[in-house]
Amino acid sequence: MKREVNVAVAGATGAVGVEFLSVLERLEFPVKNLKLLASARSAGKKMKFKGTELLVEEMKPDSFKGIDIALFSAGSALSKEYETHVHQAGAVMIDNSSAFRMREGTPLVIPEINPQDALLHKGTIANPNCSTIIMLMAVFPLHQKYPVKRIVVSTYQAASGGGYAAMQELTESTKAYLQEIPFTPKVLPVDYAFNLFSHNSAMQASGYNQEEEKMIHETHKILRMQQMEVTPTCIRVPVLRAHAESISMEFEGEAPSVEEARALYEAFPGVAVIDDRDTNRFPTPREASETFDTYVGRIRHDPFRKNVLNVFAVGDQLLKGAALNAVQIAELLV
Ligand code: A2P
Repeated sequence: MKREVNVAVAGATGAVGVEFLSVLERLEFPVKNLKLLASARSAGKKMKFKGTELLVEEMKPDSFKGIDIALFSAGSALSKEYETHVHQAGAVMIDNSSAFRMREGTPLVIPEINPQDALLHKGTIANPNCSTIIMLMAVFPLHQKYPVKRIVVSTYQAASGGGYAAMQELTESTKAYLQEIPFTPKVLPVDYAFNLFSHNSAMQASGYNQEEEKMIHETHKILRMQQMEVTPTCIRVPVLRAHAESISMEFEGEAPSVEEARALYEAFPGVAVIDDRDTNRFPTPREASETFDTYVGRIRHDPFRKNVLNVFAVGDQLLKGAALNAVQIAELLV
């Protein structure tokens, strides 16, 4: 029998926060008491957990007294500000922001890939970037048996990565476009309706944006493999909550056959194959939405290189890309 724990959710009213509640419930996580924290604006709001209404409280330094696990998704600045308070209360922080991902000594964990790292924590465990998680869920099942040396990846990312505000802006700009009403974007850099754009994270001197650099550096840390070559292009597409990725893997030796790749994916927890060439049916973001698995399809060899295999992967950004992965990390601790 798992021990019951007191859990706090920081950023409970946000796009990921709401999913924390649903995942804790769906996974039957052994919650003793649940504390919901957000900004002063949300204090007094009610949210449902297991049929009971809970009140949202304003997050304060003393909010973590008696808490065992604090699930954070309120942005990097607040994670940094509150980390010491969480530790002083004796709780473990599982942080969905990028604040501590690359910090030495802080484990960066995808439970199906490097669960052992979670146990090395010193009070904080970081949840990887959503695009990194979905990519590695499609790379690792093959990489375990057929070492990969280079990944070329292009993402088709959903609005949800930008939180509720970005999801709302996608919906509103789409309505405005259909009604032929002028629309001025407030949250995203361009009018999102029937459009796509290079990821809105800050551009770096390298010519890669922050999201792309995260995919490179986080992959190195999770796989403990600095020499893995990762070449990403991150694009936002007008999809609400699931990311898709085109992934090309170059192997050290020959690539697995399509049949073997398929078998390796089917045997891997959290991965499902949707790959029906006869009916042209492959994973879609709408189908992946609100589900736990990462879906893989379009499994095929590079037409010119025997050691390269290409796939198309799709996963719910708010679940496996965020809340689900974080609660799975919490499961490793109880
Ligand atoms: P609130 O709804 O009260 O603003 P998203 O990622 O969807 O943008 O959500 C961000 C989350 O972070 C929300 O739950 C938001 O709460 C929370 N948040 C923002 N500012 C603070 C703050 N100062 N203290 C605690 N939570 C905050």
